[in-house]
Amino acid sequence: MCEKKDATATGEPAPAKADDSTTAPAPGGGVRRRPFEGEWMPEDYFRRAAWEEVFPDYDGGPVEVDLGSGDGTFLATMAAGMPGHRFLGVERLLGRVRACCRKVREAGALDRARVLRLESLYTVRWLLPLASVQRLHLLFPDPWPKKKHHQRRIFSESFLGDVAQVLKPGGEVLFKTDDADYAEWARERVPSGGPWTHLPWQEGDFFYPTTDFEARWLAQGRAIHRLRLRFEGGAA
Ligand SMILES: C[S@@+](CC[C@H](N)C(=O)[O-])C[C@H]1O[C@@H](n2cnc3c(N)ncnc32)[C@H](O)[C@@H]1O
Repeated sequence: MCEKKDATATGEPAPAKADDSTTAPAPGGGVRRRPFEGEWMPEDYFRRAAWEEVFPDYDGGPVEVDLGSGDGTFLATMAAGMPGHRFLGVERLLGRVRACCRKVREAGALDRARVLRLESLYTVRWLLPLASVQRLHLLFPDPWPKKKHHQRRIFSESFLGDVAQVLKPGGEVLFKTDDADYAEWARERVPSGGPWTHLPWQEGDFFYPTTDFEARWLAQGRAIHRLRLRFEGGAA
């Protein structure tokens, strides 16, 4: 579980901070942090983006989104290993956005991966282009193990409804956790008779790099639980 939290968990876009490493004057006054190389800072946080704004040479190919991309090993390794695909990491903590961008640069994948510093639910609900995402990865999100905190878990019926807006028909959600209760809870949130089909997913079925947190849990001998859903199209 992730211990670090910050104010961007509120569902609002991350505000520019005057003490961020480098800042520039923003239109209308104030300051705007300069993006790291590899970071995507939207011009407008209040409308859905087009992928051409994120990836300047976008050619219409598959786009994958990694929510809560952490220190970025998964994102950078995917981007390096799947040249025909574009990858957007979404992460709320500045230090992790910086680490993610560095890993993408070091992997030589700056042409196909970007990192957005923003809250995941906000990003899916308001910012991502509709019906445009091939795969959405939700890997080791905070499990919020106490029952009174379960409503803070990102995986919910309403989250799936928002995800259904941005996935292409045939697109997939891939979820991993080390928390058996969260895995079961997530399965129970998937409506039966809706647009979601459960797909089998065993370790090694396809190219899928180990994440930073996964490596930590595996080293501790913890079991990993997987959920793979295909969106069949239509309303969630
Ligand atoms: C447990 S870590 C997992 C990181 C990475 N997926 C991995 O497996 O190594 C969860 C990450 O999600 C980020 N995070 C948690 N809630 C978030 C939210 N609502 N929006 C964006 N990022 C979030 C945390 O800052 C953290 O980096």
